[in-house]
Amino acid sequence: MPLFNKDPKTAAPETPRLDEHFKHIAFIMDGNGRWAKKRGMPREYGHKVGSATFKKICIYCCDVGFKAVTVYAFSTENWKRPKAEVDAIMGILDSYLEELKRDYGQYHNRFRFIGDLSVLTPALREKITYVETLNQEYDQILNIALNYGGRAEITHAFNTLAAEGKTAVTEEDISNALYTVESGDPDMIVRTGGDLRISNFLLWQAAYAELYFTDKLWPDLTPEDVDEMIRDFYSRKRRYGGL
Ligand code: FPP
Repeated sequence: MPLFNKDPKTAAPETPRLDEHFKHIAFIMDGNGRWAKKRGMPREYGHKVGSATFKKICIYCCDVGFKAVTVYAFSTENWKRPKAEVDAIMGILDSYLEELKRDYGQYHNRFRFIGDLSVLTPALREKITYVETLNQEYDQILNIALNYGGRAEITHAFNTLAAEGKTAVTEEDISNALYTVESGDPDMIVRTGGDLRISNFLLWQAAYAELYFTDKLWPDLTPEDVDEMIRDFYSRKRRYGGL
């Protein structure tokens, strides 16, 4: 049973309380393929189960009170995977968009798709454009990174600024030209699956993020694990280079 519970009558006394220090959590959702292989199933099955975990974790993070959640769903490098696997992930994305078009009322957040979306099919892009118009009354943001790479994002930001005629840019200019302008920098970046790297995810935004690595494979992640991340965050001292 996760600590957070919307019903104050049954909420545990130690319910995680987020404050202005922990507003944005980001996930590198790694380990879907291994999770499926361990069960003698094709990797695509791992992505399917991983997408159910993604929905559960994002809804929980929103309920707990994160102002922004960012997930790495498909990187600029993921196109190198076998076509069947890429097609399966795009199929999962398509089903998710269809579900959001129908059931967006169940979500209490806006949706943003970040990355170079120009390579997606026109049908997917049209659904994304529509889904981004939904739930405007909510403050919380779910960023789904698709065909995303941190270096590509920074390059894109510089080109945007150059096209605006800027010759000397500030850090603020760059932050404001990134895809994450609405949600800001993550306070914590979580990577499941045991690898200790950030794989071109939110490179600029990660400057002061707390990093959290777990051996758990993404499909196994639970709301209780999110509770543990919150406890861990508040046990750390963030000094931003000061004392
Ligand atoms: C990394 O695991 C995961 C991905 C490349 C895809 C993540 C996709 C989902 C969770 C579902 C899709 C969700 C949306 C919104 C489209 P991996 O395959 O690299 O795992 P491995 O390290 O075990 O091989």
